[in-house]
Amino acid sequence: MRLTLILAIFSASLVLSQDRCDAAKTVIKCHNVTEIMALESSECQPYHIFIARGTDEKSPGRQGNVTRLICDKLGRERCGWEGLDFPAKSRFVGQKAWCESAEIGVKNGQTQLHTYAARCPESKLILLGYSQGASIVQDMLGGGGGHFWKCDQASNRALDRQVSPGSNIVAAVTFGSVARSGGQPYAVKEGREFNGTRTRTPEQVRGLNQYASQLRDYCNFGDPICARESQPQSLQNHLTYFELYSEEIVSWVVKTVRKSEYRSLLSSPYWLIGATLFFVALSWSVLYFYSSFRRSFSRGAYYLLPREEGTP
Ligand SMILES: *[C@@H]1O[C@H](CO)[C@@H](O)[C@H](O)[C@H]1NC(C)=O
Ligand SMILES: *[C@@H]1O[C@H](CO)[C@@H](O)[C@H](O)[C@H]1NC(C)=O
Ligand SMILES: *[C@@H]1O[C@H](CO)[C@@H](O)[C@H](O)[C@H]1NC(C)=O
Repeated sequence: MRLTLILAIFSASLVLSQDRCDAAKTVIKCHNVTEIMALESSECQPYHIFIARGTDEKSPGRQGNVTRLICDKLGRERCGWEGLDFPAKSRFVGQKAWCESAEIGVKNGQTQLHTYAARCPESKLILLGYSQGASIVQDMLGGGGGHFWKCDQASNRALDRQVSPGSNIVAAVTFGSVARSGGQPYAVKEGREFNGTRTRTPEQVRGLNQYASQLRDYCNFGDPICARESQPQSLQNHLTYFELYSEEIVSWVVKTVRKSEYRSLLSSPYWLIGATLFFVALSWSVLYFYSSFRRSFSRGAYYLLPREEGTP
């Protein structure tokens, strides 16, 4: 009896986890989900998501599902994604493979951002990166490069927050980053205080901090990639980000995108012109009413004054 129950629960959870294309397994299937692939686009859209996938993932990788959920909230017709063009090679296929792959990801990723933002200057850009892709997204924003496992990744410059495409970025989320510095204000979850496989240089941290209010960096305790010193470690902690946090990721991204929209509305020249006209009109009417009130008051007061003999 008890065995049947356990078996039933086991097979139910198996079915449940098989339903997800972003389950905590090494093989994932988001590229097989029609609704996710239908959102892949290079068109100019109000919201455009760049996905930097993890090592060995087939595009769009685990982040495909959360991407679809974000687009559901922002409006399916107004939102889509493109993958960063890079090999996502593993360090296990060769000593230099990981660094070469990440280097290509950073270079192509920055080029893709420049190209898209130049072509679609009104679009709001969102960046998602997992594992190797997380490292790439942080490198693209804040500058990157350095020594990893048994290779060296060439250094690259940060993207200036003040000019396009940096100024078009409204939200970025990274999960289980390879190169990462712990204890930053945008780091979340129990691995947040720990450093990654490689710690970012102070200059890279400064570069990334330009984006502090648009950025969220997920790191689980015991994730051997992003929180190397946290014990005990298990690869499982590196695979569960999307099963655990999809819903909060979606609401954070949507909230952050909306905040940037209010900010740009407030700083737009139309708002300033409108506000100025409004205050001019307001002070003019206040003055008008005040002076006509004074005029009628003094006239009324005149009739109220005790009259002296001989005055009309
Ligand atoms: C996508 O994520 C949602 C929310 O976590 C989950 O319910 C759903 O099963 C996932 N779908 C796929 C295809 O992974
Ligand atoms: C999923 O994609 C793989 C290729 O990665 C393909 O071989 C397989 O047939 C697909 N499965 C479904 C159900 O579409
Ligand atoms: C992370 O690295 C920095 C810089 O090397 C170091 O100061 C800090 O103590 C490290 N943090 C942890 C939790 O190991």
